[in-house]
Amino acid sequence: MTTPETQGEGGEAPGLVPPSPEDARILRDGFLSSGYEEESLVREYGTAEPPFTGDLRFPRMLECARAPGPLGILARWFLLGLPVSGGEAGKVLRPGVVERLVRCGMLAAEGEELRPRVAVGAVGRTLVVSDPSPACAAEFREDQVRGLNPSARRLLDLTIRRPVASTLDLGTGCGVQAFLAAGHSERVTATDVNPRATTLAALGARLNGIENMECLTGDRFEPVRGRRFSLILSNPPFILSPVRRNTFSDNGRELDSFCRDLVREIPAHLEEGGFAQMILEWVSVGGEDWRDRIRPWFEGSGCDVWALKGYTREAWQYTVTRMLEASQAGTRAPGVMYDEWMDYYRSRNVTAVHGGALVLRRRSGRNWTWFEELEADVTGPCGEAILRRFRTRDLLESLPSDEALLDLVLRPAGELRIEQDLVCREGEWTRGALRLRQEAGLRRTVGTEPDVVRFLTELDGRTSLGDLARATAERFGAAPEEVAAEMARVARTLLERGFLEASREPPGRSP
Ligand SMILES: C[S@@+](CC[C@H](N)C(=O)[O-])C[C@H]1O[C@@H](n2cnc3c(N)ncnc32)[C@H](O)[C@@H]1O
Repeated sequence: MTTPETQGEGGEAPGLVPPSPEDARILRDGFLSSGYEEESLVREYGTAEPPFTGDLRFPRMLECARAPGPLGILARWFLLGLPVSGGEAGKVLRPGVVERLVRCGMLAAEGEELRPRVAVGAVGRTLVVSDPSPACAAEFREDQVRGLNPSARRLLDLTIRRPVASTLDLGTGCGVQAFLAAGHSERVTATDVNPRATTLAALGARLNGIENMECLTGDRFEPVRGRRFSLILSNPPFILSPVRRNTFSDNGRELDSFCRDLVREIPAHLEEGGFAQMILEWVSVGGEDWRDRIRPWFEGSGCDVWALKGYTREAWQYTVTRMLEASQAGTRAPGVMYDEWMDYYRSRNVTAVHGGALVLRRRSGRNWTWFEELEADVTGPCGEAILRRFRTRDLLESLPSDEALLDLVLRPAGELRIEQDLVCREGEWTRGALRLRQEAGLRRTVGTEPDVVRFLTELDGRTSLGDLARATAERFGAAPEEVAAEMARVARTLLERGFLEASREPPGRSP
């Protein structure tokens, strides 16, 4: 076990020093016993994250934070970025908490008052220390370390949370990916080019009592040169920005080349069987298909790759979305952004911008690549569903033909729901659209038909697809080969989209 370390205490955040383990324990108790964790914060304040500029929840949060009690004091400091008198706080918070917050630099004295130097958000009972939100901070910092953000949440949801020996969180920022990975990894290495980030991540690790995490400062894979990991996570600075205004989200490289190069470097740092999961954006140039842009990134990688596309935006839509975010994050003046960004895209013939995620698995042998479009954003844990999809893909890739599907035993994967619309027109009820939904995981929804529903509900996890096809053909007096071919076609589609899982033997029969 290693303790949280940074290269040079305080780094580019002078005065911020990870508390000693004993101080950290007292601080953690101080936060958690006051209800400073996600569930209570969301209940009381509507969010467990600091507000953004123009956040309409701000007035309500302010009202709540005026309530007497320890949660109000901590929220005034670490959610809203407001000063509180040391005397008032000392009376309400657990003994020793205020001095220790000052000692590690989370608070600074300003006359009679104590002003926060960081913000604190929460994911469950994990505390996430970042720079104060721009809505609360006096100045914009180029090296500002932001707290929880939508892409961080997406990666948290996608992460495969099986026990592993070593995890790398590349571009750790506030450290949130690393903190959660520490729960299922023997060792976690968190890296960032921004020393302010590694300082805050190390401080956060201590605050959370995480002892199996190291923090290293440096560009991309530089700090871990020659090392391999069982799991690599990265929510990199993927925004396709023409200028580097903020280290957190801009990478200063041409279009999507930063993510491309990261993807190409990943395999050399993955152990055999290890996974890498990364959020990214990429472009289409001259109307090219979204797959064609990224396909060459994996060629010869020695990895199986699952590429998931979430959204696609035209360049102007993308610019407008980023303008709105920039004004909320206080990172750019939206007024000058539109022309600057659109000139950049036009001059490079960018016709679309795509966002999604990649999952790579290092594996010797003939590798596969699978592209998939998601209809909706992921919400909730998806790690198990991703592992299941890898198992299914491996199985499908190993089959010589669709006929071989008939030897498999199939069953519904995870939690599924079938929905049927009933439509009334002029007093007459008729059946409308049928939908098949995944209740968890990637939450895919597809339109379906009554025959497919019947087929799904007949899969008992014991009978092979071939036997099922024969029984169905007999029942309906149909040609067995035709029924088998149709069932194999439907089974393949449902397996590929994650609605079914398959095994070669019924459960219990295999050794
Ligand atoms: C979008 S933030 C993600 C932060 C955090 N992992 C999360 O999920 O919220 C990207 C992070 O990558 C870091 N970064 C930017 N350029 C980098 C580089 N060349 N090498 C390593 N990290 C970099 C930024 O400082 C920032 O902390």
